[in-house]
Amino acid sequence: MSEEGKRLAELAKRRGFFFPSASVYGGAAGFYTYGPQGASLKRNLEDAWRDRFVFREGHMELEGPDVMPEAVFEASGHLDGFDDMIVECPECGESHRADHLVEDATALEEVEALPLDEVQDLIADHDLTCPNCGTALAGEPVEQFNLMFATNIGPGSSSPGYLRPETAQGIFVEFPQLKEYARNQLPFGVAQIGKAYRNEISPRKSLIRVREFTQAELEHFVDPETDSPDLAPVEDVELTLYPASEQTDDDGEHVTMTVGEAVERGVVGNEWIAYYLGRAKTWFERIGVDMERFRYRQHLGGELAHYASECWDAEAELGGDWVEITGFGDRADYDLKKHAEHSGEDFSVFKQYDEPKVVEKPTVDPEMGYLGPEFGGTAGEIADALETLAEKNPQSFEGDEVTVELDDEAFTVPVEKTGFSVEEVKETGEHVTPQVIEPSFGVGRLVYTVVAHALERDEVDGEERTYLSLPPEMAPTTVGVFPLMDKDGLGERAHEVAADLREAGMAVTYDDSGAIGRRYRRQDEIGTPYCVTVDYDTLEDDTVTVRERDTTAQTRVPVDELSETLQELRDGDRSLDDA
Ligand code: GAP
Repeated sequence: MSEEGKRLAELAKRRGFFFPSASVYGGAAGFYTYGPQGASLKRNLEDAWRDRFVFREGHMELEGPDVMPEAVFEASGHLDGFDDMIVECPECGESHRADHLVEDATALEEVEALPLDEVQDLIADHDLTCPNCGTALAGEPVEQFNLMFATNIGPGSSSPGYLRPETAQGIFVEFPQLKEYARNQLPFGVAQIGKAYRNEISPRKSLIRVREFTQAELEHFVDPETDSPDLAPVEDVELTLYPASEQTDDDGEHVTMTVGEAVERGVVGNEWIAYYLGRAKTWFERIGVDMERFRYRQHLGGELAHYASECWDAEAELGGDWVEITGFGDRADYDLKKHAEHSGEDFSVFKQYDEPKVVEKPTVDPEMGYLGPEFGGTAGEIADALETLAEKNPQSFEGDEVTVELDDEAFTVPVEKTGFSVEEVKETGEHVTPQVIEPSFGVGRLVYTVVAHALERDEVDGEERTYLSLPPEMAPTTVGVFPLMDKDGLGERAHEVAADLREAGMAVTYDDSGAIGRRYRRQDEIGTPYCVTVDYDTLEDDTVTVRERDTTAQTRVPVDELSETLQELRDGDRSLDDA
């Protein structure tokens, strides 16, 4: 683990941000508990996400179940294709992610895009050994391992279910209902914040790779033919990009350009993705991601998920590694078409034309008096096949005979017996299966990044100090209230001040234990942006000391202006100097 990782894990546990779950029973790898500070920070992040990606975009939000029936994942492709590469140690039996072993030991990247036998060869070529016991792994089979957690729904085993590996499927399966709520009008977006579960082969790096985590996902359904985003609000946002072409070039490097330039130069191919890269960049800044340690990286061809056609990841630098914190994918119409195919329901939107259109419609009206005696029991199926062929390939009816195939057997019918004709019909609209643009945020990775990027060290009054320079909006606690001493009525007055601030909607901690300096340090370590001290002057003139976390600067504020002043400081509408 990196130095930063160790410092963070220690602080996160000691101060109640996050720590491995159920450790009294030895725990289970890949499961974490958010303590009081972490739960609060996580909720603030989720609220800020909802504010930006639901309310301000005018999207809807839903909350689906964590367990879903097998049919959902048969249709989505997760049952067959949601795999990672596993290699097992022949000596100690420990399982490892084969691609990660290769990446850790070589300069290779994105090894998961390689075929299994190549990864097996790389393990042998580089003499890789089991990280647990040191046994050679050369020759051990590299296999696919499905990451979904299976369960049974109800007693017995006849109704298999799975813990969802992404929240997205909970949105896709409800599309026939959701389109009604959107009055059948594209584009519209549906968001969901909720748990996702993956039985990761090797959970690691604290919250970065766990088996249960929160996702904040947005599925934006658009008409690929006619809808395009309004890029004006984001076109000047500057992005640090690492396109696929730079990654495969020996001298490749990050490139900086605005959203507008990225679209114009074709660096980002999909305008909707470009729009969300711009929106998200500003949002990442707002929540405290350090922009010096941030980039957008494009997926290489072999790395794309089974459903995606273009994808970019937001990556944060953590302990020397680049880590994906959010994916921006173009899922095209893959999921909706699959669910339509498997469920038989309508996953399209009827798009009304401004004016009805007259279109040519090829049809057939087969002579059953001919087909029946000629083809016997298959006559009905042949008639259906002729109808489908007329819709898809009317040119097949141009000769004297037409051939259809049923179960690899060809049946030839004289065209005059098919009743083929082309009619002119008026159409008022058409069925469109929307394209899906998906920004998918991992909330746990965001929590980790925001804390890691806020972790600062300096010296105050000759002593080393650790503090979290969190944006005030994200801080678990907004104000720490302290009585200088718990006597002479200072405690009572400080309790009153704290109660008033809570009443004004602020997250307040009351602390009267230990020296004032130690109380400041405790709040600094959890990122509390302001501390208020009630002292003897308060009893005289009803003012308190307000102290700011990062600068440690202090000023006196009248108690009756305190909540307004703190709110303005928190919202950036006032500085401590003004106060
Ligand atoms: N619906 C698309 C999707 O699930 P993904 O890239 O697999 O895409 C999206 O996941 C985000 O979820 C990632 O960017 C990451 O932040 C988070 N994530 C994925 N697997 C995770 C894991 N095992 N532990 C923690 N976060 C994870």
